[in-house]
Amino acid sequence: MDYNATTPIRAEVLDVVNRVLHRCFGNPSSVHLPGRESKACLEDARRKVAGSIGAEASEICFTSGGSESNNLAIKGAAAARQSGHIITTCIEHSAVRRSCRYLESQGFAVTCLPVDMGGYVEPGAIAAAIRPDTLLITVMWANNETGQIQPVEDIAQIARRSKVLFHTDAVQAFGKIAVDVKRVPVDLLSISGHKFYGPKGVGALYIRRGVELSPQIHGGGQETNLRSGTENVVGAAAMAEACRLAVKDLEGDSVWIAKLRDLLERRILEEVPDTKISGDPSRRVPNTTNISFRGVDAGRLLLKLDERGFAISGASACASGKNEPSTVLMEGMGLTQEEAMGAMRFSLGRYSQEAHITKLLKVLPNIVRDLRLSSARS
Ligand SMILES: Cc1ncc(COP(=O)(O)O)c(C=O)c1O
Repeated sequence: MDYNATTPIRAEVLDVVNRVLHRCFGNPSSVHLPGRESKACLEDARRKVAGSIGAEASEICFTSGGSESNNLAIKGAAAARQSGHIITTCIEHSAVRRSCRYLESQGFAVTCLPVDMGGYVEPGAIAAAIRPDTLLITVMWANNETGQIQPVEDIAQIARRSKVLFHTDAVQAFGKIAVDVKRVPVDLLSISGHKFYGPKGVGALYIRRGVELSPQIHGGGQETNLRSGTENVVGAAAMAEACRLAVKDLEGDSVWIAKLRDLLERRILEEVPDTKISGDPSRRVPNTTNISFRGVDAGRLLLKLDERGFAISGASACASGKNEPSTVLMEGMGLTQEEAMGAMRFSLGRYSQEAHITKLLKVLPNIVRDLRLSSARS
């Protein structure tokens, strides 16, 4: 139940990995036959990734994943313009937040907007924050902790009218909801292969034709000079297959996964007292729910569930090893520290089953009760 962290590789994607590893070992920059074969494989992958988001092949730059795509979009846009102002939100992934913070240390101005209790950024607040020197707006398409879908269409229109670049981190949106750069005219968009049943360590940045970025990795000039380094051909081909499958299965998968998520949510709210959903349930990606267990430390709950074989994420900053309340929930959405400390993110996917929910609900109420009792004693 932690598909927002990562997803298992689909069998069809694994077939592509094996095929490309065996057949396309050449360096795509080499002019001889093995090199040309690898180049053809890479360009085929580029066309497929582009096709899955309504872009042109020439608008796709392969990267090592969502973090690099976000860094390239934000730092690349800033470096190409040398000075100016950036607008972002308090609920962005750390790859966006820290890129903005870094740019602030380099003399750029950054406005970080809060969101409402439902987890949305208000498009009017974005419009109001635009200054004559604003160079970039960066707002995620869907949030990784709550699943909230942001009003990216409205923000794209505002950015267009103001002639400001708009980047969106679509890492948690692609594969869960339709992502199309023709329908939503963003300038820059990040995706990451391992979030939709592709491999880890490969991603892409969509760069609308005509948008200028400064490279963040210098070297041999690959990826039209934007991202040097011998290309990850197998990763790109595998991600392209994962993109194709994600688009093909989107409609069917999203319906039954949402039903399963709703069942999970309903049962937790009914069977575990003092629980609360964070964010507005009406505008979320279909697979995610974020639930606060009052008086419970989510870090301890996560470990207890792990002992029983359940992989679920605490919606807090555990990456550093410290269990701190989530900035998305507290700073961004205004939850109390207690609510944020007890928040768990459940995220389902294509291999989730109702039986997993039944098993979870056999143990969860007792674990939560015991944790509450022990924290009341200490
Ligand atoms: C919204 C969002 N952006 C970016 C990333 C980073 O992606 P990657 O793991 O490919 O660097 C993640 C990963 O959790 C994410 O959820």
